[in-house]
Amino acid sequence: MSIHKQVKKVTTHTLHEMKQAGEKISMLTGYDFSMAKIIDAAGVDVILVGDSASNVMAGHETTLPITLDQMIYHASSVVRAVDRALVVVDMPFGSYQGNSKEALSSAIRIMKESGSHAVKMEGGQEILESIKRILTAGIPVMGHLGLTPQSIYKFGTYVVRAKEEEEASRLLEDAKALEEAGCFAIVVEKIPSKLAEKVAKQVKIPIIGIGAGNGVDGQVLVVHDMLGINNEFSPRFLRKYNNLYDQMLHSFQRYITDVRSGDFPNSTEQY
Ligand code: KIV
Repeated sequence: MSIHKQVKKVTTHTLHEMKQAGEKISMLTGYDFSMAKIIDAAGVDVILVGDSASNVMAGHETTLPITLDQMIYHASSVVRAVDRALVVVDMPFGSYQGNSKEALSSAIRIMKESGSHAVKMEGGQEILESIKRILTAGIPVMGHLGLTPQSIYKFGTYVVRAKEEEEASRLLEDAKALEEAGCFAIVVEKIPSKLAEKVAKQVKIPIIGIGAGNGVDGQVLVVHDMLGINNEFSPRFLRKYNNLYDQMLHSFQRYITDVRSGDFPNSTEQY
C-alpha cells in the first residue's frame, strides 16, 4: 500500500519516506478553517499557511505587509480544521531576517500559539544561522528557494529565476546547505524544470515545486489560484481546477435578484 494511504497523520518523516518510495507529495495553501477542512478531507499531504495570505486574503500587492500576529491567526484557524495534513506556516517578512534570536522567538510564537507543525523560511545561506537556531529548538524548517516573493523589491519582477549558470549553481549550493543544516524539505519556486530536477536528484530531502516542472518530489499551488477564484492571475505553471470566480459571481447575482424580486425567502424558508 502506498505510504500516503497508510498514515493517519502526515509528519516530516512521512514526506521523507514518500520521496524515498518515489511517491509524489501534494501541498496546497490554506488560510481559514472552512477551506482547510475541505482540503484536508480531500487528502492533501501538506497544508501551507502561506504568506500569500497577504495577497489573496488581505488584498496587498506583495507578501511583505502581513504580520506575525496575522500569520498566527490564519495558522490557528487551519490547525483547528485539520486531522491529517502536516501544517507548515510561512514566517512572515521581518520576523526572521534581523537576527537568529528574533527568528527563534518568532518561530516559537508560531508553534506555541497556533499549534502548527513546522515553519517555512525564504532564503539560502544568508539565513542559515537563523534556520540552525530554530532547528535546535526542535522546530522543523522547510526552506524556500528560487523566486522568493519576500525579496520582490530586490528582484524587481516575478520572472523565472536561476536561468543563468551563476544563479543556478548558487541555488544548488543553497539547497545542499539547507539539507545539511537539517531542513526537512525545500520549496523551489519558478525555476527552470531541468534545474529543479537536478536539485531533487542531488539532495535527499523532498523538493516541492511551484512553476518548477515535474522532475521534483511534489507540487504546491495557491488554493485561490487553482480554484480559479482569482480570475486575474494565469501564469503558465498554473492549472485551474475550477472557475469559482464565475460560479460565485453567478450565485451572488442570483441571490441579489431573488432578494430584490421578493422570491427569497419563500414560504418553506421561514418560521
Ligand atoms: O506563500 C505561499 O503561498 C508560498 C507558496 C507559493 C509556495 O510560499
